[in-house]
Amino acid sequence: MRLKGKSALITGSARGIGRGFAEAYVREGATVAIADINLEAAEKTASEIGKAAYAVRLDVTDQSSIEAAVKAVEIRTGGLDILINNAALFDLAPIVEISRASYDKLFSVNVAGTLFTLQAAARSMIARGKGGRIINMASQAGRRGEPLVAIYCATKAAVISLTQSAGLDLIKHRINVNAIAPGVVDGEHWDHVDSLFARYENRPLGEKKKLVGEGVPYGRMGTAKDLAGMAVFLASEEAEYIVAQTYNVDGGQWMS
Ligand SMILES: NC(=O)c1ccc[n+]([C@@H]2O[C@H](COP(=O)([O-])OP(=O)(O)OC[C@H]3O[C@@H](n4cnc5c(N)ncnc54)[C@H](O)[C@@H]3O)[C@@H](O)[C@H]2O)c1
Repeated sequence: MRLKGKSALITGSARGIGRGFAEAYVREGATVAIADINLEAAEKTASEIGKAAYAVRLDVTDQSSIEAAVKAVEIRTGGLDILINNAALFDLAPIVEISRASYDKLFSVNVAGTLFTLQAAARSMIARGKGGRIINMASQAGRRGEPLVAIYCATKAAVISLTQSAGLDLIKHRINVNAIAPGVVDGEHWDHVDSLFARYENRPLGEKKKLVGEGVPYGRMGTAKDLAGMAVFLASEEAEYIVAQTYNVDGGQWMS
């Protein structure tokens, strides 16, 4: 068990990739806060994972909610060791149709949510004096732009940049900040993405998802399981000397 006795908080882990991370962390001996804006779904997920998982309501756009969630983890487990900043939203529109509301919503969750949850976790870890691990969810979308995906791509580029700055700033406290950049990962999120592409590219439902899967050098879309190994590794002792990096876990789609 590589995370035995560790306390983790994973944002947006009621479903999808975050849930996969929570399951992997529990298997490796950690206690995990399933922290999600959807408390009912978080409670269901926690009960399905088992007693090492517990639900916490968290809206990463709300400062008092972030502070309350970190406090809840401190009270329950004695201190936070690992944060995964996983909650994010997606949207699609051509440049000339992008709305201010969509921009504000995505930057508020994906960028401000990541930064201020990272900040609250770092403050808690510094006060405790035992270091810690912070993993941000970036994306292949943060490596380059895409015609219809401008806002989401920009938010994920910002996550990569914040990972670098926070990584360099916090390592003196023995808090390692790194990121994972997945490619295309199957799940409810991609069903939503597929329906947006169907609308904007005038395709039948399911076609975009099939095409992107075929375009991955490995030969298929990723799964939460494909990413979990990197999330466990970055939180483990073995990753002690890794600082401010973003790792592609994408079946060979992007090289950097
Ligand atoms: N699925 C992919 O293809 C893919 C690819 C690259 C990167 N990613 C990134 O991986 C992460 C997880 O993706 P996913 O596919 O599992 O997403 P998902 O949409 O399935 O899950 C996101 C979770 O975040 C929660 N959430 C939304 N707003 C929140 C808020 N304000 N506060 C707290 N929780 C909130 C949702 O309730 C949901 O449970 C995201 O950061 C995403 O950008 C996903």
